[in-house]
Amino acid sequence: MKEVVIVGASGHGKVVADIVLKSGDKVFGFLDDNPKMEGTFCGFPVLGRTDEWKMLQDKFFIIAIGNPGIRESMSHKIQGEFYTAIHPSAQISLIDIKIEEGTTIMANAVINSGSYVGRHCIINSTAVVEHDNRISDFVHISVGAKVAGTVEIGARTWIGMGACINNNLSICSDCIIGAGAVVIKSIEESGIYIGVPARKLKVD
Ligand SMILES: CC(C)(COP(=O)(O)OP(=O)(O)OC[C@H]1O[C@@H](n2cnc3c(N)ncnc32)[C@H](O)[C@@H]1OP(=O)(O)O)[C@@H](O)C(=O)NCCC(=O)NCCS
Repeated sequence: MKEVVIVGASGHGKVVADIVLKSGDKVFGFLDDNPKMEGTFCGFPVLGRTDEWKMLQDKFFIIAIGNPGIRESMSHKIQGEFYTAIHPSAQISLIDIKIEEGTTIMANAVINSGSYVGRHCIINSTAVVEHDNRISDFVHISVGAKVAGTVEIGARTWIGMGACINNNLSICSDCIIGAGAVVIKSIEESGIYIGVPARKLKVD
């Protein structure tokens, strides 16, 4: 049984705690930099601020922070061993799959054959990552989003709830794809893309 420290006492952190328990492991507690966060969070001890990872080096860590940039910087700060949280109901192909450390795969998500999922990604509840995809580090695929076959998604990109990405496309790093968007062409410039078909949101 692994003892897991969850970094980020948030709604997302609560869901990660549930996955740890359902995997038969132990939630040792939370670290969070909010000075008001103390005592317990969802029934587990708040162990202190994130600097205190150094006192917990015999534990496993998972970063439960939605913002990809903060998730990335926290992954550089914490030098410990990372936990990969996979909900028991997730459907993960047995064929040619690689899921890197620190990634969270939530309830009823699907990862199909030939797909690669990088470090510290979030594949949220019911999201579908079809066959032969390459999902780079720190990507978040939100609740119910669907990524068709042979798609590449660059680092830190966030695919919003229910968005659909057509097959054989690539989306560069540092993009946000709005909730419900349908991406039908590759995206080569970082930015926010919304609508059907997805178009870049003009920022004044
Ligand atoms: C795309 C998104 C990031 C834009 O947020 P924002 O930069 O704060 O943009 P705003 O809310 O100011 O909206 C800007 C314009 O885009 C439109 N817009 C925003 N999100 C949109 C979406 N998903 N689809 C279509 N239009 C959208 C707004 O109506 C607004 O249009 P207007 O200028 O004509 O009034 C956000 O709306 C979104 O979709 N987030 C994803 C949420 C999500 O999936 N959460 C997952 C949790 S697991």
